[in-house]
Amino acid sequence: MSNVTQKIKKITIQKKEAFLKYQKAKENLRNAVTDIKRSGGEFEVQQIQKTVADIVDFVNRNASAFNYLTKNIFSYEDYLYNRSLNTCTIGTAVLDQYNQRIGEIVNNYLATFSSAIPENDTKSLPDSFINYLPEEIVDISTGFMVHDIGNSLIPEELLNKKGKLTKTEFEIVKTHSYEKGIQILEKNGINNPFILNPVRYHHCALFIGEPNCYPQEKLPMDLPAYVKICKLADIYDAMTSKRSYHEAFNPRSALKDIFLKYSKKDSALQFILHSFLNAVGTYPAGSILFLKNGQMCYVLISDGPIVLPLTDSRGSTLTVKPEPIDLADERLVETTLRIDSQKPVKSPIEVYDVLPAYLKETILN
Ligand SMILES: [Fe+2]
Repeated sequence: MSNVTQKIKKITIQKKEAFLKYQKAKENLRNAVTDIKRSGGEFEVQQIQKTVADIVDFVNRNASAFNYLTKNIFSYEDYLYNRSLNTCTIGTAVLDQYNQRIGEIVNNYLATFSSAIPENDTKSLPDSFINYLPEEIVDISTGFMVHDIGNSLIPEELLNKKGKLTKTEFEIVKTHSYEKGIQILEKNGINNPFILNPVRYHHCALFIGEPNCYPQEKLPMDLPAYVKICKLADIYDAMTSKRSYHEAFNPRSALKDIFLKYSKKDSALQFILHSFLNAVGTYPAGSILFLKNGQMCYVLISDGPIVLPLTDSRGSTLTVKPEPIDLADERLVETTLRIDSQKPVKSPIEVYDVLPAYLKETILN
């Protein structure tokens, strides 16, 4: 088996694992929402926490594996479950980057500090600094997963409304976070701030004067970093998901928009935005992207990315298997072999009809 085929096979296996985990998590979330609607608020908290712990473990091993699975959101059900899961997986990947970067900075500082004092005194210094501990990350990711759980007590016709909400309707929808969401958590005995804060504050302003944010009494500077990550993951996911009324944004142009809006607002936010870029700023292996010359490509390796062209520039499937191209190669700068960032990233299934036979075969088997 050639290297390229082996690589596609490996990506396909990883995607299948992600898909199964995603389906399982979605089923558990659906059960939780059904329970909440039936009982007025109670659900199997442990089941959700177990699901989240499994997702955290998987995301930490394969950061971008979930990215291309769930970008089609057509119904209220999709909205409630896929968006919650996407915010959880994206937020968890960003949180991991954020934790690593803070850890590196503090540990470098500790290393400099410890080298400046006598060796026999360094024993009292901590070995290494971890910003959020592994068990805290699972709690925070649970907060990401249930951040919109309050929507299960909001009338569906308001959440599904196509046109603009009236002022009264918007006031009702707003309560899904700081009121209904918190009510549900409290009813289930959850008082952990890592879970409560993303639910209560995920629509808060990230800078003074940001419009349409609530509750307003919480100032941006008082929001924990993980709440800011939750809000940004939610925004990013909304932009990169395909809805019945809009095409999905290309991930890089969504990131660019988010950077333009938020990056100059405060330095702490910049730190989070860079973690965001590291976590989701690459094209996931196994996704489909388009070049400026119109060619469609399969991403073999995120770094670069290194891609395999699948069609010619008119969109006709290539009959011979081409060599992979490293799009980071500087010699390509002046050519049209560059990513068209106006076009959305797709999954192979969405473009199945034009895939070459060898890829169809590897993906299906
Ligand atoms: Fe929300």
